[in-house]
Amino acid sequence: MIRKCLFPAAGYGTRFLPATKVMPKEMLPILDRPLIQYGVEEAMEAGIKNMAIVTGRGKRALEDHFDVNYELEHQIRGTSKASLLASIDRLIDNCTFSYTRQTSMLGLGHAILTGEPLIGNEPFAVVLADDLCVGAPDGVLSQMVSIFNRYQCSVVAVEEVPLSEIHKYGVIAGTVIEDDLIQVTNMVEKPMASDAPSNLAIIGRYILTPDIFDILESTPAGAGGEIQLTDALRTQAQQGKVIAYKFKGQRFDCGSPSGFVAATNHFYHLSRR
Ligand code: G1P
Repeated sequence: MIRKCLFPAAGYGTRFLPATKVMPKEMLPILDRPLIQYGVEEAMEAGIKNMAIVTGRGKRALEDHFDVNYELEHQIRGTSKASLLASIDRLIDNCTFSYTRQTSMLGLGHAILTGEPLIGNEPFAVVLADDLCVGAPDGVLSQMVSIFNRYQCSVVAVEEVPLSEIHKYGVIAGTVIEDDLIQVTNMVEKPMASDAPSNLAIIGRYILTPDIFDILESTPAGAGGEIQLTDALRTQAQQGKVIAYKFKGQRFDCGSPSGFVAATNHFYHLSRR
């Protein structure tokens, strides 16, 4: 059973400077909700109630978002505006939120390791809030939890991307075991197109077994001089313990302006229906 979801959220969000100079990138809104809220909603839909968030300096707005705001609530109580807080109140009422701070940004693998005290010795989900996913019909994490329940090993979500984009991602290779499921044999973080083992890129949704923490402890810095989750996952993959899943749905890379605009348009059109 997956009870906890880890959200690495300490990154600087340099692609959106100066908007992210003092505001966490995870708080950038897509229509009426900040990015991190979409991720928490997806985790809750997958039956997960404990949200573990790895923050850093200048990220306090994240904690305040998942808490009551007495003054605001007092002001709008009894007015038509009170219902505008319904989506966030549902999360606050049904989930717990725990935080730890990453004091130096040494990569995604390091962020995951920083979250270990919040997770402990159990399998857990990971959401990178920049990747906003719209599952069809279930959320992407829900889809992945059912795969984990069948295979009891780490699961990464993948999608096909053009080779011209492949250098931005972790990339997998493996053998197809079922429709949309691949037993991973190799994975490479941010390869050049000529070295990419396939066109299947990892997107920001993972289910990880807790042995990943010990592996991360001994994983040296890789691409970009950072401790890479992909490198630790490759160790699990070599033991036959990673499955890649071509998820059903759509993913928006909200870490880039074009993906951010596409997500905004998507949710705007939904809201007009
Ligand atoms: C991270 C991971 C990469 C993955 C990507 C998905 O990279 O390291 O393997 O493909 O997220 O968004 P980042 O985008 O943080 O550079």
